[in-house]
Amino acid sequence: MLRLRWWPPARYLVVGAGTGIASIVAVVLLFAGALLGLAPAGIGLVQRLAAVERTRAGRLLGAAVPQLPAAPDGGPVAVLASPAFRRDLRAVAVHAAVGTLAGSVAVGAPLGLLQNVAVALAWPLLPGATTSLDVPVDSPSAAVLAVLTGLGYAAIGIVVVPPLGRWYARSSARRLAPPEPTLVERLAEVTATRAAALEAHGTELRRIERDLHDGTQNRLVAVVMHLGILERALERDPAGALPLVQTAQDAATGALAELREVVRHIYPPVLADRGLAGAVAALVTRCPVPARLEDASLDRAPAAVEAAAYFAVAEALSNVAKHSGAEHVLVRMWTADATLHVEVRDDGRGGAEAAERQGSGLTGIRRRVAAFDGTTELISPPGGPTVLRIALPTRG
Ligand SMILES: Nc1ncnc2c1ncn2[C@@H]1O[C@H](COP(=O)(O)OP(=O)(O)OP(=O)(O)O)[C@@H](O)[C@H]1O
Ligand SMILES: [Mg+2]
Repeated sequence: MLRLRWWPPARYLVVGAGTGIASIVAVVLLFAGALLGLAPAGIGLVQRLAAVERTRAGRLLGAAVPQLPAAPDGGPVAVLASPAFRRDLRAVAVHAAVGTLAGSVAVGAPLGLLQNVAVALAWPLLPGATTSLDVPVDSPSAAVLAVLTGLGYAAIGIVVVPPLGRWYARSSARRLAPPEPTLVERLAEVTATRAAALEAHGTELRRIERDLHDGTQNRLVAVVMHLGILERALERDPAGALPLVQTAQDAATGALAELREVVRHIYPPVLADRGLAGAVAALVTRCPVPARLEDASLDRAPAAVEAAAYFAVAEALSNVAKHSGAEHVLVRMWTADATLHVEVRDDGRGGAEAAERQGSGLTGIRRRVAAFDGTTELISPPGGPTVLRIALPTRG
């Protein structure tokens, strides 16, 4: 099928001419309303036009344009003072001028083509006809000139309009999207995640200490006791002591297994052996609910980041098995823009919510991910499905 690459940006500009004129009306209404002391009549119109322009630019660029959180409910004055509205108003005012102008280029090009070609065809019937450049058309050679003028308009339409449309969509998206966080905001965010990282680190240390204390240390105490019994038995009856050697050996083997388990939870050896994709594939195979891992090519990430992703998938899959009642679960992983993305999606009953209590699996994931400056998103309406998404930067 023939792909008309110029059509989407041309349509974007043509419709923009219409919304540009509506923007002029909105801005005039807003200021007239404010001058007359009325509740500004244009507020709703400005907000609606900003939303329309956001959607249109997002559709042309293939990426949704985010929006600042709306103003709190507090009447027109609070809305007018809110950063979200001021940003919308600025964008709509610019659109009233620039959008209308850019749109008129996109509207003018086909009209110019039509007018000049029509004059070139009909000049014998139209005495006094002129081209759009005001050249009289009263002979065949003038008609040819009119056709050439029309083709000039067509060339403008095809050559100028598409880049103009894409440029205008990009600049409009920049005006309508929330501003980049300031350095101070970014610093506050980093301070908060640093605190979360320390907290997560502390929790992790306490867990390892508990695991070593309750598991490995107890097993080693048992080994020491068995060796003590063995020592006394050797003094009394060396021949009968042989089974006790066996018992002490079993206790030592148990301690070793316990120690391996603790080590596995600090950095799963399977990650070192098989990489993240292989390690997650092993988790997926072991999942009691039918699970599938979508093929993905992953760039290598720092070990700690891969471990965070691995533990997140492990917890998500164990949640699916414990709580969801799902029939299928799909795990997807991909890297893009130096970010590792992981998604676990089940078709179960939904309603998942991260509890604030210590040791909750989902809260643990959130903290661990935040420690790497990553984000966690949990979508789980009652009735399902449940989607857990995490994004982890792979560069510092
Ligand atoms: N995939 C899911 N589908 C439906 N409900 C879920 C799902 N995942 C979690 N939940 C719900 O969200 C709650 C919180 O999950 P979370 O992992 O934080 O705790 P938990 O699994 O109950 O305990 P822990 O992870 O500490 O063993 C769960 O108790 C469960 O009710
Ligand atoms: Mg859990």
